[in-house]
Amino acid sequence: MSLDGKTFLVTGAGSGIGRAVARRLLDSGARVTLVGRRQDPLKETAGLYTDAYVLAQPADISRPAEAEDAVRTALDRFGSLDGLVNNAGLARFGPLAEADPHDLDAMLGVNLLGPAHLIRAALPALRAGSGSVVNVTSVGGALAMPNRAMYGASKAALNSLTRSLARELAPLVRVNAVLPGPVDTPMYDDLGLAPEKVENLRKDMVESTPLGRFGKPEEIAAWVCHLLDPEVSAWVTGALIPVDGGRTS
Ligand SMILES: NC(=O)c1ccc[n+]([C@@H]2O[C@H](COP(=O)([O-])OP(=O)(O)OC[C@H]3O[C@@H](n4cnc5c(N)ncnc54)[C@H](OP(=O)(O)O)[C@@H]3O)[C@@H](O)[C@H]2O)c1
Repeated sequence: MSLDGKTFLVTGAGSGIGRAVARRLLDSGARVTLVGRRQDPLKETAGLYTDAYVLAQPADISRPAEAEDAVRTALDRFGSLDGLVNNAGLARFGPLAEADPHDLDAMLGVNLLGPAHLIRAALPALRAGSGSVVNVTSVGGALAMPNRAMYGASKAALNSLTRSLARELAPLVRVNAVLPGPVDTPMYDDLGLAPEKVENLRKDMVESTPLGRFGKPEEIAAWVCHLLDPEVSAWVTGALIPVDGGRTS
């Protein structure tokens, strides 16, 4: 891949899909800014890579000032930005009637507004280098999602942002999305559901996935990196690519 020497910012880089994306980029020779609220998991993702290649930058992306500061710090360290991966996400499942209003705000803050703040802050640098954005949304943004309606709505909104910005920012900046199906990550430990409900949910998800298993974070990361790589995807923008074991087929 032609990612060697390029510069990227990945949110939610301390776990799951974001960690797999960051490691794939680092292993390709890229320089990567890792963003998430907690410093320790970001450092674990950075592993043995030196400061010349990796920056662990704690930030809450739902706060505009912190999102802007993360982009500024990345540019101060690496001097350019070839790609932004909006991967950080928050999932609170359960019927709307029982939802905590704070969770509803928080899902929109992390899943929709955070990516918008980051794209806004990164735009001059992305334009300067003809870079690209990849948003990690969800099949939940394409399917009806009873008992996770706000999560699905926040991801549908990010799909819409992806398509509209692809046109608004063309031809200099490409904007695409990957829509994962169920992927085995720490997200399932933090859904706000009782453990037996999580177990039932995991079973249902496998049963409703034609390929009959959870995806691996690395299987999503590969598609994110293909979309970032101009050698593969220079003529791809506004694409919403399901990587979901057939769940939306
Ligand atoms: N796993 C699945 O089945 C699945 C399916 C479809 C889509 N997705 C999407 O894939 C993306 C990655 O999720 P994952 O499955 O890898 O789950 P995960 O391991 O829980 O990752 C979520 C990441 O987002 C970060 N984050 C949360 N709130 C943040 C905030 N306010 N500011 C900055 N970072 C924040 C978390 O780090 P901190 O807690 O340190 O901030 C964490 O590293 C999410 O957008 C998710 O919606 C996942």
